[in-house]
Amino acid sequence: MSGSNPASSPSLNPSNTIARTRKSSWRFTFVLSVLAPVFAAVLLYQLDSFDPAPLPTHEFTRHGIFVPRRNPLVLQGSEMVGVGQLLAPEDLAYDAESQLLYTGCADGWIKRVTVNESVTDSVIENWINTGGRPLGLILGQNNEVIIADAEKGLLKVTGEGVMELLTNEAEGVEFRLTDGVDMTQDGMIYFTDASYKYSLKDFIWDFLEGRPHGRLISYDPSTKQTKVLVRDLYFANGVAVSPDQEFLIFCETPMRRCKKYYIHGPKKGSIDKFIDDLPGMPDNIRYDGEGHYWIALATAPTFSWDLAQRYPFIRKGVAIMERYIGRPKMEKNGGFLAVDMEGKPAAHYYDPGLSLVSSGLKIREHLYGGSIVYPYIIRFNLTPYPALSII
Ligand SMILES: *[C@@H]1O[C@H](CO)[C@@H](O)[C@H](O)[C@H]1NC(C)=O
Repeated sequence: MSGSNPASSPSLNPSNTIARTRKSSWRFTFVLSVLAPVFAAVLLYQLDSFDPAPLPTHEFTRHGIFVPRRNPLVLQGSEMVGVGQLLAPEDLAYDAESQLLYTGCADGWIKRVTVNESVTDSVIENWINTGGRPLGLILGQNNEVIIADAEKGLLKVTGEGVMELLTNEAEGVEFRLTDGVDMTQDGMIYFTDASYKYSLKDFIWDFLEGRPHGRLISYDPSTKQTKVLVRDLYFANGVAVSPDQEFLIFCETPMRRCKKYYIHGPKKGSIDKFIDDLPGMPDNIRYDGEGHYWIALATAPTFSWDLAQRYPFIRKGVAIMERYIGRPKMEKNGGFLAVDMEGKPAAHYYDPGLSLVSSGLKIREHLYGGSIVYPYIIRFNLTPYPALSII
């Protein structure tokens, strides 16, 4: 026994002191490197006032609807039109007579692109700068172009290049993110305001918050009247008038669905299902004149988006990441879905490397694709790169 031996006292034993110092410095490192960020994250979470809402997740399934034909590597057959000259060309409209493709870019320019056999022959012209952010666009009578400008509202540009604001509010609520537009043969304009709360640069916050801030709206050029047709939509996006002019199809991006809204006939004013459980988040929708609607899909239903949609606290976590360090990449396998007149999916073109595509427009044998990120229009020839039957 040596209890009284001062040499055995722990405090005086140099090797013991070193061990203790080592131990406490290890503890200190642990606290600093592991616990501190956890505490900081919990504190940020508690203090942050962002308050996401539960989404009606029972209205969509985790996986997309079955599509009988697919091309899962569409980038392999793709070409790029106007590289570097078309900054995030969101929507596309084609004038068969002049053979010009119109598109709205992130720098405010509406550009006109010649559609040539070889992409290197394409000529790109700066046509009109809206001073905002042109998204959806459609050609009207007398070479006029109707534009859903995210920042300005609904615009008209005449064939001579004179710009006019048609409307920028409805029911006393200003549009914050005018997004998709189409027009009937008799000149009625139908469009969406994706969100009255968040602007385009903050669109991700609308997704993270999970509340329906979107509206489907009409504008009648003969009376100049703006009318809300459907409210409380989840990020109301693309709009397409049916070829028989009976109804519209409008898409709700986070809900992965598109619905019908009747504009004529006995069902006028009512809503029907068109397609649910899309294999991705829909942006614009366009009719190709040959029996199919083409829906651009910004991303496939990824695991991370699915979790985020189901659990508001995860969306809040993502929101905090977005605020302080940047959001993780949650998108992949974006693409294009061809849907028949009955709302049955016909063919799906996508690629793991494709995300945030925003429109698909068929011109003869090519599909032209717009996006909110790429500095060009994507195109691929549907004949040598078809979607093949997988059964
Ligand atoms: C490209 O297309 C435009 C019209 O679409 C045409 O006027 C022009 O001659 C074409 N250029 C070439 C090199 O083919």
